[in-house]
Amino acid sequence: MELKDAARAVREKAYAPYSNFKVGAALRSEDGTIHVGCNVENVAYPEGTCAEAGAIAAMIASGASRIVEAYVVADSPDPVPPCGGCRQKLSEFAARDVPVTLATTDGAEFKTTVGDLLPGAFDAGHMDRT
Ligand code: THU
Repeated sequence: MELKDAARAVREKAYAPYSNFKVGAALRSEDGTIHVGCNVENVAYPEGTCAEAGAIAAMIASGASRIVEAYVVADSPDPVPPCGGCRQKLSEFAARDVPVTLATTDGAEFKTTVGDLLPGAFDAGHMDRT
């Protein structure tokens, strides 16, 4: 299955009764496997989780740990931009040049990279622990 189809399919399963804004995310890991996630909201609003976080959790649980491609889709007027926290989460598991496609359910797409989504990212190289 293509990343796009996987993201669109999992978006339908999102639990978003408070925002009514369903998001689907699909990641391809280094072994070629696809991992999906959707947003899961909570009546205690800050406890909700984003689609990207769910997909990352699924990837890690599968035993994979490097993202080589990502796709995020929502029913938004413009291709949905990941929140700041998700940009940091993606950057933990992906190189700067990893392609990310942001999309609408209508089919509009914006292609970017993990590095462009989070310029100047804090990473382990910024810590002097040698
Ligand atoms: N959301 C995501 O799942 N991913 C994004 O990239 C943007 C926002 C979710 C969080 C919340 O459930 C809903 O969209 C509205 O913010």
